Amino acid sequence: MNKAGEASDEVLILDDVHRRYGDGPAAVGAVRGVSFGIRRGEFVSLVGPSGCGKSTLMNLIGCLDRPTGGRVLLEGEDVAQLTDDALALVRNRRIGFIFQTHNLLTRMTAQANVELPLMYAGRPRPERRTRAQDMLGLVGLAHRASHLPTGLSGGERQRVAIARALVMNPSLLLADEPTGSLDTTTGLEIMRLIESLHAGGSTVLMVTHDMAMAARANRVLHMRDGVLVNEGEP
Ligand SMILES: Nc1ncnc2c1ncn2[C@@H]1O[C@H](COP(=O)(O)OP(=O)(O)OP(=O)(O)O)[C@@H](O)[C@H]1O
Ligand SMILES: [Mg+2]
Repeated sequence: MNKAGEASDEVLILDDVHRRYGDGPAAVGAVRGVSFGIRRGEFVSLVGPSGCGKSTLMNLIGCLDRPTGGRVLLEGEDVAQLTDDALALVRNRRIGFIFQTHNLLTRMTAQANVELPLMYAGRPRPERRTRAQDMLGLVGLAHRASHLPTGLSGGERQRVAIARALVMNPSLLLADEPTGSLDTTTGLEIMRLIESLHAGGSTVLMVTHDMAMAARANRVLHMRDGVLVNEGEP
């Protein structure tokens, strides 16, 4: 049992999570009471129509945003209650986030981009270099370490983003349409990489529009109009 008393193999627990944007009659209930858990080592996908609240939910789980109601427990800790500084620390240490677009810093090499979370964490330079090199090796890009993002293909950029997301060894890897801006072949390569990370022990939550991709997870969550509508095996 952990601090909150939940079984500790649950990396993530959402308990009646809400996110409203705005006030009064113009308010939008983007997430309207979502509850689920993810166990350590699970690979879960989240699907649903455009605008149903998937990214809003991912941003809440990834500590980029705060719920307007309910609890988000990450390894038993209610992140909704944390200060901004504490939240930034959780983002750095416990969450790896991959977006549809890679979000790399364009003036920095692949290596420097992957080192960034280690810089924020104040890790010494030799450790940063070794760890970033290891991560680039893991995603098959050791030979591209000194390239700028502009000198990389879309799939390679996404691999660098994945290496950066993993460099702090996060408890949870969040991927919001990681193949959404890639062609089919490159998208499949990234999908296989995510699967191999899962096989290596990573806990993954992935949003996708592609049902074939979603079905490759252990479990598929279906979202509609701000709520989960059902849940089952792929
Ligand atoms: N900052 C915001 N302010 C107001 N409304 C917002 C904001 N962000 C999102 N919304 C609204 O919340 C709802 C959910 O948006 P969200 O981006 O979570 O959907 P999504 O499921 O990720 O869609 P997509 O598949 O197109 O990425 C939408 O109606 C959207 O217009
Ligand atoms: Mg979205």
